[in-house]
Amino acid sequence: MPGLSSSTLLARTALPESLNVRASGWESCVREAVAALFEQSFARPASVIVRAPGRINLIGDHTDYNDGFVLPMALNRAVWMAASGRTDRAVRVISSELGEGRFELDGLSRQGTFVDYLSGVAWAMDPVGLPGLDIAITSDLPAGAGLSSSAAIEIATLLAFSELGERGWDPVGSAKTARRAENEWVGVASGIMDQLIVAIARAGHATLIDCRSLRVKALPIPGGVEVVVLDSGTRRNLTDSGYNERRLACDRAAAVLGVEKLRDAGLGMLDDARLNPVDLRRARHVVTENDRVLAFASALELNDLVAAGSLMNLSHESLRADFSVSTAALDALVDSARSQPGCFGARLTGAGMGGCAVALVRSEAMPAFVECVRTAYRTATGLEAQLYPSEATNGAEVVSRSALS
Ligand code: GLA
Repeated sequence: MPGLSSSTLLARTALPESLNVRASGWESCVREAVAALFEQSFARPASVIVRAPGRINLIGDHTDYNDGFVLPMALNRAVWMAASGRTDRAVRVISSELGEGRFELDGLSRQGTFVDYLSGVAWAMDPVGLPGLDIAITSDLPAGAGLSSSAAIEIATLLAFSELGERGWDPVGSAKTARRAENEWVGVASGIMDQLIVAIARAGHATLIDCRSLRVKALPIPGGVEVVVLDSGTRRNLTDSGYNERRLACDRAAAVLGVEKLRDAGLGMLDDARLNPVDLRRARHVVTENDRVLAFASALELNDLVAAGSLMNLSHESLRADFSVSTAALDALVDSARSQPGCFGARLTGAGMGGCAVALVRSEAMPAFVECVRTAYRTATGLEAQLYPSEATNGAEVVSRSALS
C-alpha cells in the first residue's frame, strides 16, 4: 500500500496529544486527518467520510442478551472512516491506530486482527454485489475500554458499504447485521445494545432500549449534570474475558426456570433449588438490573438525579457481587468518584472486567471532580485514570460525500 506510515500522518495532522482535551474544531481536525490518511495512502481523494461514535451505558449491563433493558448514549468520541470504491473485489484498510490489512470479498476468511470486524460485516451483509473498497480509519475511541470501539468500526463499515454499494441505510437492520458479524464471525456472543445505539443515537439524549422488541425511547439528558467517562486504564478483550461464559450461565438459568430469557423471570422465581449458586447470582443480577433500568428512566424523566445516582450505585454493586465482572481497579475508581462532592452515582459500564466506569456529576462540581478522582485513584491503585465529560451525540452518519463519487 503506498503512502506514509500512520505515525507520520498523526504527527503531521497535529492531533492534540491528550485525547481528553477537546479543543474547539476537534471534529473537523479528525475529519481532515482521516481524509489526509486516505489520500496519502491510496493516492486519490475519498468519495465518502462516515463517523460512528462509541457509547457509554448509563445503566443496564449484561441485560441485552437476556432480552432486557438498557439505557446507553453515544459519545463524542468516534471511529472516522474515509472510503472509495474499487473496480476489483479487494478491500484494503489502513488505520492510524490499528495498522493495515486487506481482504477479498470473494473468499472471506478470519485473520485474527481488527480486519475481522470489517470482513465480518461484509460476510454478514452478503458480499455478493458489494463493491471492493479502499478504507482509511482514524479513531479517538480507546480499544478494549468498554466504549464499543468494535461496534463503531462495524457500523462505520456498514455505512460505508451501504453508501458506496448503493444499498440504502436502515439503522436498525444495520445494527442486527453488525451484531451477526460480532456473534458469528468475530465470535463474541454479544447482545444488540452497542450496535443499536451506535446506529440510532440522538444528540442530547440517552436511549431506553427494550432489547426484545427493539422499541426505543429517547430521554433528554437533564441540564446541570455531566456524564463523565472514567477510564481505569485497564483493558480487556471480550473474546477471552469470560463474557461468553456469563451469557451461557444466563441461558442455563433461564432454561432451569422454564423461561425463554431471563427477561421473563421475576425475583420470586429465583428460590428454585435446581439453580446452582453461581447461576442464581447471575440471574439475580439480570432480574434486578432490568428493574433498575426502568426506575432510572423514570428518575431521568422526573429530573431526580439523586434517585438516578443511587440506582447506578446499586447497579455497580450487583455487577460486582452477583455478576462478578468488576475488578479491584474499577471498584477503586467508582469509590473515588462517589466520595467527591457533586457526584450523584457511579458504576462500571459495558462488559466490565477492565475498561471504564461512568459517573453522573453536578456540572458546577467539575473540574475539581476530575482532579480529586484522579488523585484518589492514583493513591488507591498506583494507576492513572483518564476522565472526560461527554455530551450525548448522534449515531452513525455520513459527514461528507465527494461531488465526484
Ligand atoms: C458488551 C456487549 C454488549 C453488552 C455489554 C454488557 O459491550 O457488546 O452487547 O452485553 O457488553 O452490557
